Amino acid sequence: MKKMLSGIKPSGRLTLGNYIGAIRKFVEYQDEYELYVFIANLHAITVAQDKAELKKNTKDLIALYLACGLDPKKVTIFLQSDVHEHAELGWIMTCNSYMGELQRMTQYKDKTAKGETGITAGLFTYPSLMAADILLYDADYVPVGIDQKQHVELTRNLAERFNNRYGETFVIPEPVVAKVGAKIYSLQNPTKKMSKSEENPKGTIDLLDEPSLARKKVMSAVTDSLGIIQYDPENQPGISNLLTILSSLNGESIESIVNRYEGKGYGEFKKEVGQQVFDFLTDLQKRYNEIIASGMAEQVIKEGNEKASFIARKKLSKVKRKIGFEVF
Ligand code: TYM
Repeated sequence: MKKMLSGIKPSGRLTLGNYIGAIRKFVEYQDEYELYVFIANLHAITVAQDKAELKKNTKDLIALYLACGLDPKKVTIFLQSDVHEHAELGWIMTCNSYMGELQRMTQYKDKTAKGETGITAGLFTYPSLMAADILLYDADYVPVGIDQKQHVELTRNLAERFNNRYGETFVIPEPVVAKVGAKIYSLQNPTKKMSKSEENPKGTIDLLDEPSLARKKVMSAVTDSLGIIQYDPENQPGISNLLTILSSLNGESIESIVNRYEGKGYGEFKKEVGQQVFDFLTDLQKRYNEIIASGMAEQVIKEGNEKASFIARKKLSKVKRKIGFEVF
């Protein structure tokens, strides 16, 4: 069975973008692959986190993984900071990365271009840590949204570089990016990614938003004045984004939705999208509340940490031997 791995940062409340671009795919893949899904909390602290919020977001993320349909019998779900090998291989990967290639990573580039101050060294080197996350488990595939594809490509380069220098050690992973939904955009600014850290909350649907509030956000989503429902991200980014959201949630092809709405108005279309989001969140939050009440998250993580640690320990010791760290 091929291996697959992915993670999400608990750096804010999870969005519909995280669900459509990432978690939804993990759920689909869990039957087909040996799947590892983790909470990337070492990555979360590349920007300052409030302690209480970080704890809450971490617990919520575990519960949401489960509520979205990840089955701990099939998937290893673990907490990154509890598997120490990530930080250790992360350092080795940092020493295997060039400043120039990290400077080309868009997240860092965008922040520096905007003249943001207080950028941590961790934010700069975090793609190397992400490479370690992936390489520790010999992952063949890494399902991610489009914004993370560049990091998986860097991982491939780092793995090849290491293999060339020290001999075959790492599997070269491939990014898996969904055909529909690899980038969900802000409802208020549909050329910008829907993000946990967006300033305008009206643009982002949180998975834990009150469903009726989420419906309102859809109804007030920015569109255009063309009045035609068609998939044209260039000229109609708002409508195209809503088409992607609806198609991802109800499984209908975009083409079929477009056909259904021929000659119809935006109001009616938004109503259906809003209702779909409302129903989706209502179901999801029901399961989320049950999971929180059951206290099962702790056990899931405990077992997942053990499984992940076992694999990571073996891999790291192989890496250390190759480098020349194990002398006796
Ligand atoms: P993070 O936490 O920013 O996002 C988690 C996943 O959600 C996807 N995503 C989106 N997809 C579609 N539309 C959106 N608006 C949207 N916003 C986010 C992301 O592409 C990602 O797949 N560095 C990673 C976490 C990470 C990781 C890893 C992932 C750490 N180590 C190893 C894979 C493998 C991150 O910050 O994702």
